[in-house]
Amino acid sequence: MNTNRSIAIICGSLRKDSYNRKLMNLISEKAPDHWTVSEIQIETLPFYNADIEAEGDPESVHMLKEAIGHADGVIVVTPEYNSGTPAVLKNALDWASRPVKTTVLKQKPFAIAGASPGGAGSAHSQNQVRQTLLTLDAYTMPGPKLLVSAVHQKLNDEQTALNDEGTVRRVEKFVTSFDAWINHFN
Ligand SMILES: Cc1cc2nc3c(=O)[nH]c(=O)nc-3n(C[C@H](O)[C@H](O)[C@H](O)COP(=O)(O)O)c2cc1C
Repeated sequence: MNTNRSIAIICGSLRKDSYNRKLMNLISEKAPDHWTVSEIQIETLPFYNADIEAEGDPESVHMLKEAIGHADGVIVVTPEYNSGTPAVLKNALDWASRPVKTTVLKQKPFAIAGASPGGAGSAHSQNQVRQTLLTLDAYTMPGPKLLVSAVHQKLNDEQTALNDEGTVRRVEKFVTSFDAWINHFN
């Protein structure tokens, strides 16, 4: 009998037709039946500013921390911008890291995925997210990695969803592995 799991998912792209959002949708679709997957919105977070923080977390920050805090695991799906993590995603992780001593990221199981039209499938961005999470003592799944390269060639005819057979198989393995990874800690 599998334990019910609440999984939070964060997309590092705000673009309406985002490839990473399509990857996020495929991950949600292939999630095990005992997962409840909910997206954490990061679009409305202010830029991290200690002065804002000193006045108390804005509602959007409060909701971000609550959502991560209550999740059994978090999946980050990230594009790559100029060989790095998009600012909007790094900003969300920076807010979530505060205060460092009691951060909701500490000992939280994480998995990282990403897609790019390029050949490396957001590898640099994913590595930077991994490094940030390591700093915060999160438990990031070492593998299997999910790097979708040439993502624009892996869509259905309508260009609305990822349907490439190899990608679907890798996503299935990714979610099954993350389920097992979470079981190590709970
Ligand atoms: C500012 C900027 C920088 C980019 N830098 C990279 C990069 O370093 N590596 C890469 O593979 N793609 C890069 N790209 C292309 C993105 O991978 C591509 O725009 C992708 O569609 C973004 O993800 P999304 O579709 O989920 O929004 C960059 C795009 C932008 C807008």
